[in-house]
Amino acid sequence: MALRSMDTLNVEGRRVLLRLDLNVPLKDGKVGDETRIREAAPTVRTLAERGAVVIACSHLGRAKGKPDPTLSLAPVAPILARLADRPVLFVPDTVGDGAKQAVAAAKPGDVLLLENLRFEAGEEKNDPAFCARLAALADVYVNDAFGTAHRAHASTAGVAKLFKDRAAGPLMAREIAALSKVRDHPDRPFVAVVGGAKISGKLETLQSLARRADTVILVGGMANTFLLAQGAAVGKSLVEAELVPMAKEILAAATGRGASVVLPTDAVVAPGPDAPGRTVSASAVGPDEMILDIGPETRQRIASILAKAGTVFWNGPAGVFEKPAFAAGTLAIAQAMAASPAFTVVGGGESVAAVQQAGVAGKLSHVSTGGGASLEFLAGDVLPGVTVLEGGA
Ligand code: 3PG
Repeated sequence: MALRSMDTLNVEGRRVLLRLDLNVPLKDGKVGDETRIREAAPTVRTLAERGAVVIACSHLGRAKGKPDPTLSLAPVAPILARLADRPVLFVPDTVGDGAKQAVAAAKPGDVLLLENLRFEAGEEKNDPAFCARLAALADVYVNDAFGTAHRAHASTAGVAKLFKDRAAGPLMAREIAALSKVRDHPDRPFVAVVGGAKISGKLETLQSLARRADTVILVGGMANTFLLAQGAAVGKSLVEAELVPMAKEILAAATGRGASVVLPTDAVVAPGPDAPGRTVSASAVGPDEMILDIGPETRQRIASILAKAGTVFWNGPAGVFEKPAFAAGTLAIAQAMAASPAFTVVGGGESVAAVQQAGVAGKLSHVSTGGGASLEFLAGDVLPGVTVLEGGA
């Protein structure tokens, strides 16, 4: 069923509860990466220009149902104001009297940003009473928080059902369109590049990609478990030995239907992430060494596969890329994505940071604001924050 678009809602003079994903990294009270705010800002501006009272809300971090000053959304408000090019009033409350009064005093075109929803126990519990209090603030509901659509929380699931007028925001719509293309009708060959530290957490996505992709390229810590499954010695590298049988199943599922699985053939190894690295063949990792990045031969191979792809999806770094000595593989994948003529989509915090660090974000077809959400979508899971919008009036 198609999602109702925000464009079809009458918002003029009405109070719009706008769920955003403003879950940004904070360091010493400062926002470390503005990407999610930048992506949310046009929606805020559009609604305000259409004469809505915009009541923006989000979670930030994992506050576990009680106030935590280090996870306040206050530092986000001035950045949202700058990027949306209008004043944003930060309201240090969610559903209490402070929030009600701020909403009552707001005029069409005003923008409010409520405090972190996860300061309330009812948010993550999808508590009906909390949903009702949140819904009472507004007349209309718009969800533009794709990054949180895999969570069945009050502000993403429960509250939506209490609004007759509910719709998806433009970012949500763009995310779903790009990821649906990847999952449901990719231009072939469809190449998936999956990295990151662990297989666990990405199992369902890997199984789904093994059924859908023409080539699955595995890099990062998770590739070690696959190398182990193929009988390679990986020294002290991070592995999930208990998942070796699962890795074998994934390999068999992909190769059984004629897809290829590409594993690193060389690696940058060191005794630890703070020691200098050396490049070795993937079959020559020493017993006291760890694989910390893919080597130049693997980088080259990935670049040539991506150059011939029709669709590329990438999630997860190829190594410990926060250390410059082990960043080359991840940055090379970002460059190869940018150089590829394919429909290219990247999702997940670290890979998105890598495309930004490489200065190539603008050259990709779509940079997803969702990490877990994009993986669950590709795994074929129903995202509660999306389904609830399909039933909009
Ligand atoms: C994310 O960053 O993936 C989303 O904002 C969801 O956050 P969560 O994993 O804390 O629910």
